[in-house]
Amino acid sequence: GPGWRHTGDSRPKMYFHYALWLWIALCLGDSGVQHACQEICFCKQGTLFVNCSGASVSADLILPPETEHLDLSNSNLHSVPRRGLRLLRRLQVLLLSSNHISGMEQSPFISLQRLHKLDICKNEIASLGNSFSVGLIFLYELTLAYNRLQELQYQSFQHFENLQKLNLQNNNISSIQAGAFRSLTRLRQLCLQHNHLATLQSGVFSVLQHLEVLNLEGNWIKAIAPGVFASLSRLTVLNLVHNRIERIRFKTLLALQTPGTRIFLTHNPWYCDCDLQRVFAKLHSVRSLILDDYPNVTCNEPPVLRSLPLLSVETHQLGSFYEQESSFSKTVFAVYTSYASFFMTPESTGATDSSRQMRIRSIAFILKRSPMLNSREQLQFLWEKAPAGGTP
Ligand SMILES: *[C@@H]1O[C@H](CO)[C@@H](O)[C@H](O)[C@H]1NC(C)=O
Ligand SMILES: *[C@@H]1O[C@H](CO)[C@@H](O)[C@H](O)[C@H]1NC(C)=O
Ligand SMILES: *[C@@H]1O[C@H](CO)[C@@H](O)[C@H](O)[C@H]1NC(C)=O
Repeated sequence: GPGWRHTGDSRPKMYFHYALWLWIALCLGDSGVQHACQEICFCKQGTLFVNCSGASVSADLILPPETEHLDLSNSNLHSVPRRGLRLLRRLQVLLLSSNHISGMEQSPFISLQRLHKLDICKNEIASLGNSFSVGLIFLYELTLAYNRLQELQYQSFQHFENLQKLNLQNNNISSIQAGAFRSLTRLRQLCLQHNHLATLQSGVFSVLQHLEVLNLEGNWIKAIAPGVFASLSRLTVLNLVHNRIERIRFKTLLALQTPGTRIFLTHNPWYCDCDLQRVFAKLHSVRSLILDDYPNVTCNEPPVLRSLPLLSVETHQLGSFYEQESSFSKTVFAVYTSYASFFMTPESTGATDSSRQMRIRSIAFILKRSPMLNSREQLQFLWEKAPAGGTP
C-alpha cells in the first residue's frame, strides 16, 4: 500500500530473530497469545510490514521485533497494546486509528524510539496524561483527530522535539495550558479545527517559529490576545473561518511578518462599524497579508447590515445607519440641525456673514466627530441652509 517503504533486502538475520522469538513465546506456552504473522495479520517483506487492520487483536498479541510498519487500525483495541509494542525498537510507523482506546497508561510508547509517525485518530481519548510523549523524540507526525480531548496539558507534548505535524482536529479542546506547545519548536502544521477554543491566550503559540499552517476553523474563538500571532514568522496560512469573532485589531494580524500569509476570516459574526471597516481596509492594503476571502466577509451586526458583504457597505452607509439607528442620536441631530439652521437663516440675527460661517464650521466639526454623522448628505443639508455658499 502507499506509505510502505520498499526494500529489496530480505534480511535472513531478522527471520532468524523472529523464529527465535516465536519459539521462546511458544515455549512459554501461553494459550492466549496471538502470533501476528502466523495467525491474524498480513505481513509483507518478511516481517517489516505487519498489517492487522480489521482483525480483532488481543492485548497479548506477539509482534515480530523487526517490524517497521504496523497497522493496528480498526482492531477492536481498548488500550494501547503496550506489551506487544515493548520490543519493537525498529518501529517507524504505528497506526492505531478507529479503535476504542479511551485513556493512556504511563509512558505508553516509551520503547518506540524510532517511531516517526503515530496515528491514533478516531478513538475515545479524553486525556493524554503527562507521560504520553516519553520516548518519542523522533516523532515527526502525530494524529489525534476525532477523539475526546478537552484540555491540552502542560506536559503531554514535552518530548516531541522533532514533531512537524500535529493534528488535533475534531476533539473537544476548550483549553490549552500555558506552555503546552513549548517543546514543539519544529512544528510546521497545527490542526486545531473543530474544537471548542473560545480564547487565544497570549503566548500560546510563542515558540512555534516554524509554523506554516495554523488551522483554527470551527472553534468558538471570540477573544484573541494581541500579539498571539507575533512569533509566527513563517506562517503562510491562518484559518479563522467559522468562529465567533466580532472585532479584531489591526495590530493582531499585522504582527504576522511572513511575506504572503493567507488569512481566512469568513463566517464570523462581524460587527460592522467604522472601526472594523477601517481595520479591514488597512489589512487589505498590507501587501504581506492576503485576505483571500475578504469579498465574502459579511456583517452580522448591526441588524440592518446583516448578511451584507462588509466590502459593499460604504462608510456613509455606516454613518447614516448610526444616525437612523439610535433615537437618542436622532434627537441630538435634530437639536443640532435646528440650532444650526437658526444661525444660518439670514434674518435670524444681525450676525455678520463671517461669524455665521464660523458657527457653521464649528457645528460641522462637532457633527463630523459624532458617531452618528459621517454622511456628506447631512453636512450638505447644513450648507444648503447657509446663506453664504461653499461646500464642506
Ligand atoms: C491493511 O489492510 C487493510 C485491509 O486488509 C487495508 O485497507 C490497509 O490499507 C492496509 N494497511 C496499509 C498501511 O497498507
Ligand atoms: C464535547 O463537548 C460537548 C459540549 O461541550 C458535549 O456535549 C459533548 O458530549 C462532548 N463530546 C465528547 C465526545 O466528549
Ligand atoms: C466566496 O463565495 C462564493 C459564493 O459563495 C464562492 O464561490 C467563493 O469560492 C468564495 N470565495 C472564497 C475566497 O471563499
